[in-house]
Amino acid sequence: MAMNIVIMAAGKGTRMKSSLPKVLHRLGGRSLLQHVLDSTASLDAQSRIVITGHGAEQVEAAVSAPCLSFVRQMPQLGTGHAVQQVLPALQGEGTTLILNGDVPLIRTETAASLIEACGGHSLALLTIDLADPSGYGRIIRSAAGVQAIVEHKDASPAQRLIIEGYTGMMAAPTGMLKRWVAQLDNNNVQGEFYLTDIVAMAVAEGVPVLGIKAPDETEVLGVNSPVQLADLERRFQRQQAETLMEAGVRLADPARFDLRGRLECGQDVEIDVNCVFEGQVSLGEGVRIGANCVIRNATIGAGARIHEFTHIDGEGLGVKVGAGALVGPFARLRPGADLGPEVHIGNFVEVKNSTMARGAKANHLAYLGDAHVGERVNFGAGSITANYDGANKHRTSLGADVHIGSNCVLIAPVTIGDGATIGGGSTISKDVAAGDLAVARAKQVAISGWKRPAKKR
Ligand code: UD1
Ligand code: CA
Repeated sequence: MAMNIVIMAAGKGTRMKSSLPKVLHRLGGRSLLQHVLDSTASLDAQSRIVITGHGAEQVEAAVSAPCLSFVRQMPQLGTGHAVQQVLPALQGEGTTLILNGDVPLIRTETAASLIEACGGHSLALLTIDLADPSGYGRIIRSAAGVQAIVEHKDASPAQRLIIEGYTGMMAAPTGMLKRWVAQLDNNNVQGEFYLTDIVAMAVAEGVPVLGIKAPDETEVLGVNSPVQLADLERRFQRQQAETLMEAGVRLADPARFDLRGRLECGQDVEIDVNCVFEGQVSLGEGVRIGANCVIRNATIGAGARIHEFTHIDGEGLGVKVGAGALVGPFARLRPGADLGPEVHIGNFVEVKNSTMARGAKANHLAYLGDAHVGERVNFGAGSITANYDGANKHRTSLGADVHIGSNCVLIAPVTIGDGATIGGGSTISKDVAAGDLAVARAKQVAISGWKRPAKKR
């Protein structure tokens, strides 16, 4: 049986007080609308139609999903008017699931249960009992079942006491939906076309209307303001933290954990407070992450330790940290940093687009860019690769067991052979052969009996 998914996303989101269309605000690193598309991606739908209006072009460019199309609603005259715009695009018989682009945490199972309850012949409404139902359409029930939805602004004082609210999500038989929606009017307090008026039409025709209570409040909460967005963000993070902890990950404090993407963890991973993970991050068995780290698009090998205040950003080229490596505190790994096993990166060291072979170390105040660093190299404090000549980037290559003293500048392109030593304070612009010592600094001069200038009286 054919199934369509319609997602309403044309509204302005005035209370966000933002130039960004509401459904593009981010929750856990993804837009609100993308959440809805992702959690319904596995449902077997013939079409996914997003109704756009405010910021339509921006919204349409920002999201993706299988069988996705857009229908514009200009101007926005209410939820019923929104659905009127998609009627020609709805495929024949079967079921249409209607969701809201600003209710991001709807679960796949809940959406599927609405479709099942509809079964192509009943109208299934997702409802929720609320401590404060103000603003919501109220579910009017009689002994015979659901009779109507009355919008808050149109509700009588007695109806406003009803705590069962309509979540804005329903599944309807497509053919009936088309007929009902075409008949909607705007004779109500707001002068809008209310989609919710189809409930009374269904009842009048003797079509069964099912009010299905949502299993969990979080999945039906909408975002209308920055306060609600932040509240949902915390709920979402809590859910992700719990899933990870159930899999054995030890979070020092699930309330101080943020995942904006996907995190894969091996056994016995420990994550201290205030860490942010973005994009695709993988932590091998026994990895420990210190407090206040930000880690984006990176693979951290088994047993590695990332100390406090480390920033790892693998956007584009990725970052790899080998097994047993030690990184930080206060280290910065940028795209293309590829650290082998047992590598040590200490405080105030930046590594970009460079490979470091097993056991190489840069423990203090260093920059390695566009470099290959051989096994067991020791890269001294304050030393850098000068990889940029003002126009182009060049590579530096250090063989195995090279020792770079402190405060050296290696002007790329340059190659240092296996086992070579560079004296502290050298500026190296020529290749150094294996095993050689290169010193490139002014010779020390001693002037005996030197008198310091005295202050004039
Ligand atoms: C709607 C329901 C109400 C329900 C509430 C749940 C109607 C008439 N009322 O109320 O019963 O309790 O949701 O949150 O449906 N939209 C459009 N075009 C429009 C108007 C809205 O695309 O012309 C979209 C919005 O972008 C949003 C969704 O529809 O994603 C709901 O709109 P909103 O204004 O929040 O709904 P309410 O009128 O508050
Ligand atoms: Ca509204």
